[in-house]
Amino acid sequence: RAKRPAGAPSKELARPVTKVGVVGAGLMASQLGLLFARRLEVPVVLTDIDQERVDKGVAYCHEEIDKLLLKGRVNQDKANRLKGLVTGSLDKAASFADADFVIEAVFEEMGVKQKVFAEVEAVVPEHAVLATNTSSLSVSEMASQLKHPERVVGFHFFNPVAVLPLLEIVRGEKTDDASLATAFAVAKKLKKSAVLVKDAPAFVVNRVLTRFLGEVLASIDEGTPVEVADRALGPLGLPMSPIVLLELVGPAVAHHVSQTLNAAFPDRFAVSANLGRVVGAGKRNLYVPGTLEIDPAVAALFETGD
Ligand code: 3HC
Repeated sequence: RAKRPAGAPSKELARPVTKVGVVGAGLMASQLGLLFARRLEVPVVLTDIDQERVDKGVAYCHEEIDKLLLKGRVNQDKANRLKGLVTGSLDKAASFADADFVIEAVFEEMGVKQKVFAEVEAVVPEHAVLATNTSSLSVSEMASQLKHPERVVGFHFFNPVAVLPLLEIVRGEKTDDASLATAFAVAKKLKKSAVLVKDAPAFVVNRVLTRFLGEVLASIDEGTPVEVADRALGPLGLPMSPIVLLELVGPAVAHHVSQTLNAAFPDRFAVSANLGRVVGAGKRNLYVPGTLEIDPAVAALFETGD
């Protein structure tokens, strides 16, 4: 018999999830939409601030389903069914009125996420769980202005969502057992290895990751050329070089997480001025597309301490 994850409440308390809402249709949100549709096989509605973003998120899910079909992971019937399950809408009130589980993956800022949760709470049923994919922010604080903070859980995935098995589940100060049990039941259906972590800045994994990337960025600040720092760790056998990982995570997300950690633990975490410049210049991709050459315009933003 599978052992209950440490700290997970009895699974008898879990409520059924027959429809999922996703707020945001960006990098993480669209991957989440695909995963929920594929594993839960329930309707999933993506929402965002404009139709273009929504359409892009849904198109990503449909393209990924086509790839699964090409790889023989699903048959044509299933591909059609999965595509039918993923839809997009700008109307949260109509789309989420019968959602049992809503996850947000919007911009990593407390005020934005609190506003999203307030909007969602106003339209979902009483029993719905509100989950946040925040990378670093306090789940308790995010829930603090809601009428029902007991239904908020942290549900933190890792990129690429389809591939990485880990899921950090976070219990906020007021999260109740039924919401947490529902979160663990959903995690199991998603086939993720869920661990219950404390509601502390950046939880567990992003602290380690930020420290790791932070030291690489510091070595660049101190004078190691960015290309050299990126390749120096190759012989250690890591799955990705640091700047590839930074691109995968997203420079803006990595920067936000480092700011949160710096505010919480200033003696242990620095905010890289170089990363700040990359984010300030609006750079999302760090390499020349399709190559392993760092984009010269990005490299030029890195100032070394020579
Ligand atoms: N999106 C979707 N699927 C992807 C993908 C992506 N970006 N990258 C790779 N894949 C899929 C491939 O399609 C392939 O699927 P298949 O088995 O169905 O064909 C599978 O992953 C393996 O891909 P590769 O053969 O290219 O395998 P690699 O050995 O190169 O592994 C990797 C790719 C799994 C991405 C590996 O490089 C890795 O584990 N990298 C580290 C990633 C990491 O640390 N992520 C955590 C970031 S932190 C985070 O997200 C938290 C946030 O809060 C900041």
